[in-house]
Amino acid sequence: MQPTDAVPGTAAWYAAFAEQAAGSSPTYAAWSRAISRDAEVLARVDGLPRDRRQPNLVLAAARASGAPDGPWEVLRPWLLDAWPRVAAVARSRTTQTNEAGRCAVLLPALTRVAGAGRPVALVEVGASAGLCLYPDRYAYAYTADDGTTARLGDPGAPVVLPCRVTGGAPPPRVALPDVVARVGIDLHPLDVGDPADLAWLEALVWPEHDERRARLAAAAGVVAADPPTLVAGDLLDRLDDVLDLLPAGATPVVLHSAVLAYLPVDRRAAVAAAMAGARERRGVRWLSNEGAAVLPHVAARLPAGTDVGHRFVVALDGVPVGLAGQHGESYEPLPG
Ligand SMILES: C[S@@+](CC[C@H](N)C(=O)[O-])C[C@H]1O[C@@H](n2cnc3c(N)ncnc32)[C@H](O)[C@@H]1O
Repeated sequence: MQPTDAVPGTAAWYAAFAEQAAGSSPTYAAWSRAISRDAEVLARVDGLPRDRRQPNLVLAAARASGAPDGPWEVLRPWLLDAWPRVAAVARSRTTQTNEAGRCAVLLPALTRVAGAGRPVALVEVGASAGLCLYPDRYAYAYTADDGTTARLGDPGAPVVLPCRVTGGAPPPRVALPDVVARVGIDLHPLDVGDPADLAWLEALVWPEHDERRARLAAAAGVVAADPPTLVAGDLLDRLDDVLDLLPAGATPVVLHSAVLAYLPVDRRAAVAAAMAGARERRGVRWLSNEGAAVLPHVAARLPAGTDVGHRFVVALDGVPVGLAGQHGESYEPLPG
């Protein structure tokens, strides 16, 4: 599974990924840069099907297979030796990073939807293991540029999500939404109760991101204690069946984050059309958290001159409401 916009040659792909990872994971930046210049390793990677050569997938497959986190000089001989095992993992798994932290950037819009005191029924499309289906079970610690803070949720919750708020005030201290249904759709739903699936989710967290690894373990505990309904299949093919499962009397919310980049462009447009239809027929609210290029008609509604950078655009019913750090680490509320 790779973002469908990415079609460079393998060396260029790894070089670009090194740039992207540089500020976040020196280990991945160094490995990826070295691979981009290493003909022998590139030949191995090119032996994989095109959609399995994605740097994030191959590096996670290496770590899931026991790669030593360390300098490239140590990794290289290990990788060449262990390649058949690494390739088998890359062929059998897909990029399914599940980040509970994204709930911190979805919450402001979600509390708006739930504001009337009506419960919400959540459907997450591209749910992975469903960690983003529990926004009511986590606690939140927002901190604004000027030092203002807002803590939402039970301070004793097993997961506290820190989020830096830029260019605006932290969200108001309101009650968390009353979630009465949690249903996910994924091509390959992961089960946090399955040690192999959980190990794969851990391998997808980049080497230096210890805080995220700890959060994954804690959020997995929340999910395992009260598992969601996870339906296998394509998000568009299964959406209507899943909406039929929702209880009456709750506002249905379909949400997705970091998912549509994996769909061909025409399918992304079909998602937007499906959401408009679901809103009309069933009163579904649509909450998206995706790259600006992924939903161009949503990005076109950003205020003029908005500098999105590498952030995602959070939108409610197709209208941008905020800009979000990719793992939910920051949030900039938009006017309106
Ligand atoms: C990067 S993960 C994001 C997971 C989760 N939304 C989050 O934010 O933590 C993308 C997920 O989308 C799923 N996915 C990609 N294309 C899909 C499709 N056409 N239908 C259903 N799920 C899909 C993948 O299997 C993967 O689990």
